[in-house]
Amino acid sequence: MQLFRASIAHFSTRTSEYNKDITIYKDGGLVIDGKHIKDIGPYSEIAERYPNAAIKDLTGKWVLPGLIDSHLHFPQTQSIAHYGEQLLSWLENYTFPTEMQFADNQHAEAIAKVFLQQLVKNGTTTGLVFTTVHKESCDALFRAASEIDMAMIAGKVCMDRHCPSELQDTAQSAQLDSAQLIETWHNKGRNRYALTPRFAPTSTDAQLAAMGELAQQYKDVFIQTHLSENLDEIAWVKRLFPNTNSYLDVYDKYNLVRERAVFGHGIYLSPDEWTRLSEANATLAFCPTSNLFLGSGLFDMTSAKANNVHVALATDVGAGTTFNMFNTYADAYKVSQLRNAPICPLEGFYLMTQGAALAHRLDDEIGNLNPGSMADFIVVEPRFDELTSLRIKQDATFDDVFFALSILGDDRAIEQTWISGRCCYTKKSPQ
Ligand code: GUN
Ligand code: ZN
Repeated sequence: MQLFRASIAHFSTRTSEYNKDITIYKDGGLVIDGKHIKDIGPYSEIAERYPNAAIKDLTGKWVLPGLIDSHLHFPQTQSIAHYGEQLLSWLENYTFPTEMQFADNQHAEAIAKVFLQQLVKNGTTTGLVFTTVHKESCDALFRAASEIDMAMIAGKVCMDRHCPSELQDTAQSAQLDSAQLIETWHNKGRNRYALTPRFAPTSTDAQLAAMGELAQQYKDVFIQTHLSENLDEIAWVKRLFPNTNSYLDVYDKYNLVRERAVFGHGIYLSPDEWTRLSEANATLAFCPTSNLFLGSGLFDMTSAKANNVHVALATDVGAGTTFNMFNTYADAYKVSQLRNAPICPLEGFYLMTQGAALAHRLDDEIGNLNPGSMADFIVVEPRFDELTSLRIKQDATFDDVFFALSILGDDRAIEQTWISGRCCYTKKSPQ
């Protein structure tokens, strides 16, 4: 057993009243036993309860739950930060050519390792990840995640039209490959499968129907795709599916709108679409760095709250410009300022921890530091350079630390990342 002494913050409950429900121990103790969290509380009480635990003194640092990135693309690690395009031409010019390289399994294996390294050095311990159309790229990612016992949710991209022929599958092959991947990986270790039709324009009705069949067959798999991100995209969907009432309706028609369905973006939604998302208990992934980078638009958090729709924060790398979830909140904050409804720091923290875990029905495992949850957590050093040392006082509140680090910080604030009770990343000391 190991006992960590540090300042600790997490949301422990099932309610969504994040402002009230945060639990903070300024001088806290977290006990882990093997892969799980055993206990948490004020240090003095915990130390008394576990006299034989090995103590790691991290006084002055913060221990937080591992962060959850609810939408990103592992092959796009290498195509992040390309100048000048909006969604549809960006896909054609940068994304599809990059994804073609994943026909080579060795390339997929190599990028999977780089990708996971980027996640852990930024404190992310769970991702909902798009791979490529190649089944083997999905195998490569799950294999790499299994090596560090990381809670990985991923799926093979399905697209059977409007993409280069090298990236095109069929309704039938997508169904077969996805089913095989589910059988191989879903609920095996900490892996979970997500059915991944890329977005409505790249799937025929037949392919969406095939995905819907699998969704019916495997009730607890995730579904991930994109929704109403860009105005040209939305107009295209209208032309391609003239007989549906809305973009969301295209997915709904094929039973793809439900709990554990995670829709990237959702920037331009009608009142009916908001209502339907709420009713179905589905989730929107808010990807602010991507939405700003591609000039897509400003996510409407106010409507999400008014309609009681689950929202989780996400990077959307590589249209997203960072792997860092704190920095992702910084851009969410700026987007919300432009909408005159600032997202407060505790809300930001909630959307990358317990809020995301609740949306994904994984809160008994991740997103919090409750006894029984997996020991996925991070150690944060708030005063990691001259500027943060100047700005963040020794006795600063959690809100202030989190906010200042979101705006000013980067991966240097993440000192350690623990997954399944094992330290899988330690920041190198500066030379
Ligand atoms: N819509 C369809 N594919 C993609 C993608 O790879 N990234 C983003 N941001 N939007 C998409
Ligand atoms: Zn995306």
